[in-house]
Amino acid sequence: MLVLGIESSCDETAAAVVRDGRELLSNVVQSQIDIHKAYGGVVPEVAARSHIEVILAVIEQALRDARVSWDDIDAIGVTYAPGLIGSLLIGAVTACTLAVVKRKPLYNIHHVEGHVYANFLLEPQPAFPMLALIVSGNHSQLVLFQNHGDYRLLGQTQDDAVGEAFDKVAKILGLPYPGGPSISKAAELGDDHAFIFPKAHMQGQYDFSFSGLKTAVLRRAQQVCGVSHDFASIGLAALLNDAQRNNIAASFQRTAVETLVDKTVKAFEEFGPASVVIAGGVAANSELRRQLSQRLPIGITYAPISLCTDNAAMIAALTYYRTKLQQPADPYTLEVVPSLSM
Ligand code: KG4
Ligand code: ZN
Repeated sequence: MLVLGIESSCDETAAAVVRDGRELLSNVVQSQIDIHKAYGGVVPEVAARSHIEVILAVIEQALRDARVSWDDIDAIGVTYAPGLIGSLLIGAVTACTLAVVKRKPLYNIHHVEGHVYANFLLEPQPAFPMLALIVSGNHSQLVLFQNHGDYRLLGQTQDDAVGEAFDKVAKILGLPYPGGPSISKAAELGDDHAFIFPKAHMQGQYDFSFSGLKTAVLRRAQQVCGVSHDFASIGLAALLNDAQRNNIAASFQRTAVETLVDKTVKAFEEFGPASVVIAGGVAANSELRRQLSQRLPIGITYAPISLCTDNAAMIAALTYYRTKLQQPADPYTLEVVPSLSM
């Protein structure tokens, strides 16, 4: 079965063709990072307009790269939640229209669940029960999958997502957007024990909180620069020298990653899953990969970085398993949902 996946929930316009939920035939991602960089973050209206400009070309490229025609496509899967409403709408309206015109069954796919399915594009595929640590710009959660479509949310962030914390700390330190890769690069040159930052203790043993860590970084940066608590964070970057910046980045990254790994190890010990996967943009972080490999007794599945950040291959992979479990959506009534947990 050949599935065309379409993804436009944030600032990547993406289309991909996947065979039987495991074989990647094409994966086209048109990133808007260069457009949003100037603003230090994603501007929703600009994102939506950029999606419109490129989405049809991206889909055509995905079909060309896979060397397939519309006749070969058996189903279309599209991200309908969660994300920026304007961005989601472009992908959804395009997918609905194509489903009607090309007479293809359409499946509405949850973006965060989709991230997990990047790991099903690898061989061997993860075994169930599977523990998934999902860490992106908007989500930080631990989910236990008994099977496809059968999962339980063990815990999630109660405030900021870990990727959001990376992005905000990068802004404080004057490192370029997106913050994750910049922090990671700066951290390589820093001492990760230069500063001790607090770890939040949550009531739910698998819940996370990253907003206190971000504030602790801000306070420490203000202290290092010798300014008071009401000094605007935007002015700090100019006062920090490279060593201070790298040390704060390394210490922040170690603390954020340790928090994720502590809970993943705890969940592993409680539930004894057959596999552990990490998913979402922050899964690209090499310190996270290093700590997990060191502290888990079983090997962990890593998707290549191009499949960790937003893409449509993961959406196409999940769509295949969804076709076994649910009826297609109605392309005339499908609505997008900007905020919806798994
Ligand atoms: O999954 P994703 O591409 O988009 C969302 O669904 O949010 O994740 C983007 C997030 C951003 O916060 C970005 O800073 C973070 O993933 N990220 C990283 C790395 N690469 C991307 N965080 C830490 N280390 C990285 N190497
Ligand atoms: Zn994502």
